[in-house]
Amino acid sequence: MKILVINGPNINMLGIREPDIYGKENYNSLCALIKAFAEDKGITVEIYQSNHEGCIVDKIQQAYGNFDGIVINPAAYTHTSIAILDALKSIGIPAVEVHISDVSKREFYRQISYVREYCEKTICGKGINGYIEAIEYLISKG
Ligand code: DQA
Repeated sequence: MKILVINGPNINMLGIREPDIYGKENYNSLCALIKAFAEDKGITVEIYQSNHEGCIVDKIQQAYGNFDGIVINPAAYTHTSIAILDALKSIGIPAVEVHISDVSKREFYRQISYVREYCEKTICGKGINGYIEAIEYLISKG
């Protein structure tokens, strides 16, 4: 099984960025956690981060035929990007939406998620462990 983990803008700033909201673990720790879990489960993961909407669209398109599942934290693009939603719909690979913080309890402008329409599941407010829960879900689907 091959899973692609996609992170949007500023997720690479974890640990530095608003630690009260996003926690003290940095981006390298997030990547290490995901890789260790994947190794333990005997699956392949690729982790991708970009600050650019078009690059995320490109990466989703390239996943077609190459991955069995996608874990996506589109970060701020969650709340704005129909292009990312359309890219997910184009390739038809099962996807799970992850947010480190609990967006449902935050500002009004974080209450909309365009990708949610496509994603099979949304995991919010569980910190970086949310990525593990998302991968577990995709594994359990087989
Ligand atoms: C986020 C929540 C978004 O509203 C925000 O723009 C982010 C991170 C999260 O993981 O909690 O950059 O997706």
